[in-house]
Amino acid sequence: MEKIWKYISAFLLIIIMVMVYKFIISGSTLKLSDNRQAILLDSSERIFILDEMNAFIVAIAEINRGLSENNFDQIQKASAAVGEAARTSVEASVLKKLPLEFKAMGFQTHGGFEEISKMAASRVSTSAIQGKLGEVMQNCVACHSGYILPQPAK
Ligand code: HEC
Repeated sequence: MEKIWKYISAFLLIIIMVMVYKFIISGSTLKLSDNRQAILLDSSERIFILDEMNAFIVAIAEINRGLSENNFDQIQKASAAVGEAARTSVEASVLKKLPLEFKAMGFQTHGGFEEISKMAASRVSTSAIQGKLGEVMQNCVACHSGYILPQPAK
């Protein structure tokens, strides 16, 4: 009898591990031949992420303008728009479809912009902000080389 319970608990443990992998680590993905992964989102979820991306590029353009004009208020405003507050606006339904690594890079990017807004608020040098921006943008490069968001068929 005791043995049966051992088998049952081993079985349950395996199921839990598979579910952790499926729902927490891998997300809703498909491996492509070029080694990137396609994240399968529905249309509105995909647009949500792409809007977030466009907000990043807008922020970078604005930060860059602020840097060239020594305008710290401008840098602060532009980076805060894609900082921590933007991160927490991602819905749970989308989050659970995203691979863990993808989420980590996304969170890191928002966190980086949050840091830039703090740096601008405390008026550190523009070159320090530029350095930080370059560091944050490594996330853009890394994530784009690993993932795409195909348009859903329906
Ligand atoms: C966590 C992953 C990730 C990070 C970090 C990331 N991106 Fe993206 N981005 C993507 C994916 C995936 C796509 C969709 C690519 C595709 O399907 O071809 C995308 C698309 C885009 C697009 C196109 C949007 C559109 O409407 O088609 C822009 C612009 C963009 N990213 C800018 C950025 C910038 C700038 C950064 C850094 C500040 C950044 N991204 C960081 C994953 C990421």
